[in-house]
Amino acid sequence: MTTAWLELRRCMIAFIRRIYQLFGMIKKEIWAKLSPTGFARAQGVRLGENVTFYGMRPGSFGSEPWMISIGNNVYITAGFQFITHDGGTLILRKEVPDLEWSAPITIGNDVYIGLRTMIMPGVSIGNRVIIGAGSIITKDIPDNSVAVGVPARVIKTVDEYLEIMKQKSLHLGHLPAREKDLALREIFLKTPEKSGSSR
Ligand SMILES: CC(C)(COP(=O)(O)OP(=O)(O)OC[C@H]1O[C@@H](n2cnc3c(N)ncnc32)[C@H](O)[C@@H]1OP(=O)(O)O)[C@@H](O)C(=O)NCCC(=O)NCCS
Repeated sequence: MTTAWLELRRCMIAFIRRIYQLFGMIKKEIWAKLSPTGFARAQGVRLGENVTFYGMRPGSFGSEPWMISIGNNVYITAGFQFITHDGGTLILRKEVPDLEWSAPITIGNDVYIGLRTMIMPGVSIGNRVIIGAGSIITKDIPDNSVAVGVPARVIKTVDEYLEIMKQKSLHLGHLPAREKDLALREIFLKTPEKSGSSR
């Protein structure tokens, strides 16, 4: 075979590999959107009952999804990221070739995780916990806590949060999405829109 033919063959194989990878990526994107819990389980994440993910991306569980365990009645909102290993070791492996640190993440029961939260290796989040939007969780969060910030700190108990929310409540939480939307418009716009809206 000529060198030109060998080169052409090499390029074609590389091209087909790329196309194959691209389809794999698209498949994962669609799967994560259409069946987030099915996707998470298939990656090896251990899930309890009634776990809801909003806006999942395929890379959200990092490279060791099987190190992640999530309890019952847990809501995890868009932009979340689990990290189960430290990458700082990479630049030091020329000095210590086997340098490595990975650790599991555990989330308890009745946990809400706000938008764009990052959970670092080795963290355990207890039961009945609320994590504020944009938080980075670097240390364990005890039961019955509301934690926020970078790094996340406990700001109150969930019991305290509940008492405040009972005072502030609009009493619409039981309504289906569309009815709630109309009721919110009634309150905040005074004129409910006739056309439907998506959530
Ligand atoms: C964490 C949360 C539940 C706290 O609600 P809350 O108890 O009503 O909080 P408060 O308004 O009493 O705030 C208490 C303090 O925490 C701060 N805080 C509240 N949320 C914060 C957050 N996400 N990050 C950083 N600080 C936050 C407030 O600024 C306030 O600080 P201060 O005491 O210095 O004034 C709420 O702020 C939150 O982030 N909810 C998640 C929202 C979300 O992701 N929604 C997704 C919809 S899909």
